[in-house]
Amino acid sequence: METLLIIDFGSQYNQLIARRVRESKVFCEVVPPSIPMELIRSKNVRGIILSGGPASVYQKNSPRINPEWLGLGVPILGICYGMQALAHCLHGRVYRAAHREYGRAELFLTGQSGPLFQNIPKRSISWMSHGDYVQRPPKGFVKTAYTKNTHLAAFQNAKDRIYGVQFHPEVAHTEAGSRIIQNFLFRICGFKKSWTMENFIHESVREIRRRVGDQRVILGLSGGVDSSVAAALLSKAIGRRLVCIFVNNGLLRKNEEAQVRRAFSARGGPASGGQGHFKADIRFVQAQKHFLNKLKGVVDPEKKRKIIGHEFIYAFDREAKKIKNASFLGQGTLYPDVIESRSAFGGPSAVIKTHHNVGGLPDKMNLKLIEPLRELFKDEVRDLGRKLGLPEQLVGRHPFPGPGLAVRILGEITERRLEILKEADARFIEEIRRAGLYDKIWQAFAVLLPVKSVGVMGDERTYENVVALRAVTSTDGMTADWFEIPKEVLGRVSNRIINEIKGVNRVVYDVSSKPPATIEWE
Ligand code: XMP
Repeated sequence: METLLIIDFGSQYNQLIARRVRESKVFCEVVPPSIPMELIRSKNVRGIILSGGPASVYQKNSPRINPEWLGLGVPILGICYGMQALAHCLHGRVYRAAHREYGRAELFLTGQSGPLFQNIPKRSISWMSHGDYVQRPPKGFVKTAYTKNTHLAAFQNAKDRIYGVQFHPEVAHTEAGSRIIQNFLFRICGFKKSWTMENFIHESVREIRRRVGDQRVILGLSGGVDSSVAAALLSKAIGRRLVCIFVNNGLLRKNEEAQVRRAFSARGGPASGGQGHFKADIRFVQAQKHFLNKLKGVVDPEKKRKIIGHEFIYAFDREAKKIKNASFLGQGTLYPDVIESRSAFGGPSAVIKTHHNVGGLPDKMNLKLIEPLRELFKDEVRDLGRKLGLPEQLVGRHPFPGPGLAVRILGEITERRLEILKEADARFIEEIRRAGLYDKIWQAFAVLLPVKSVGVMGDERTYENVVALRAVTSTDGMTADWFEIPKEVLGRVSNRIINEIKGVNRVVYDVSSKPPATIEWE
């Protein structure tokens, strides 16, 4: 597959570069600067983008350009730090600016702007975020653009096909950004638009069949988007040699198991394309009582997480042992996790993810991992799910934490409290869907608080539970803002919860952003 390599110098915008490239239907990979040359040579690399990053080329341990990249003969585009690193490596001059330049800047093209700036206005808005800047270009390079504060905002060596931009073409604020990236991909590197979902499915199916042979794959199906799409793809490739295990821990949303059964039933199932049969072999483990027992009396959220993680592995392992001839464990790992787990710069997000990772299945299972989605971003996974015929309800579903409702029942978890929360949550989601808001929200859910409050019903004084509603917008769960649900909708939800669910007499709406609050309450 024709590939564009993105060398990760630690920029917060790396995944954005990858998104822009993928949107242009070109396959790309984000790799660390330490990537061995043999590995690069083993890929069909047609171009390289050097990302931005927080370092300065003058710092002792700053990431460097491997001069062998320049010898590959493929076009190179350096962005921000990537441009400075190019200049430094090729004996130009990089200076520390007196002031960090941050934000929008008007970009002007010079008379020699070349193919990177083809069909781009002479003046446009660009987005800057840098401390250092290139003061003098290396030999053989010409200046192609400037801003008021950055006299060398872009340079090129057209003969060697090396380009640099000080601003960030990958962010939406850079008006000509997508065009610049497309010029690089198509005019300069000569990529064909070969990264399509159809091609991906075709290639993946072939690769899965080759790897798995006549063995079997076990996969933990949770009802979430990632594991469902992974299951659909694996099943398309190997049919009933995929065995899914669905552990019902009793902490799932209302009707969750039934929805999975329906989505993966023979008729209308993913591999059927509406005609054939999707005969997924799914083993449903009914462990509700067991989990509830283990959680009896536990109120500490971290303890809850540990118990659930541990019991999940136990239940899964026990079921998996019954499956003969299994050599692979399928997982719905996505590309952002892959990039983060191997990033040399592991930002704050890396720490947060490990904390949440309760699903880690035991190494002792002795299974090889197969992760058919590890090249995809979330929206690509959704797209893939649709192409494989999964229902929209499942594909467009909000994220749900591994420990499930356990971290949404503050305090002790009992059967009764679970029941109250499931019913409240279901009504909240139903009303949000009805109001056409579901897809505008990253995550929406109800929380059961560990306090009771006084109310009045008829002539009677009541002393009952409080339900909190939470709905947030976010792009990756790392930061979030509370969503403004219209008053009428909130009113309807509140009425329904209080009138229809025994044991609740008060509903409140959470108006906290993350940070400083988190999305979940525990
Ligand atoms: P917080 O609450 O940390 O949540 O702002 C960020 C995102 O992570 C999800 N989350 C979890 N996911 N296990 C998971 O698999 C967990 O223990 C867990 N805790 C939070 C949360 O739903 C949100 O999408």
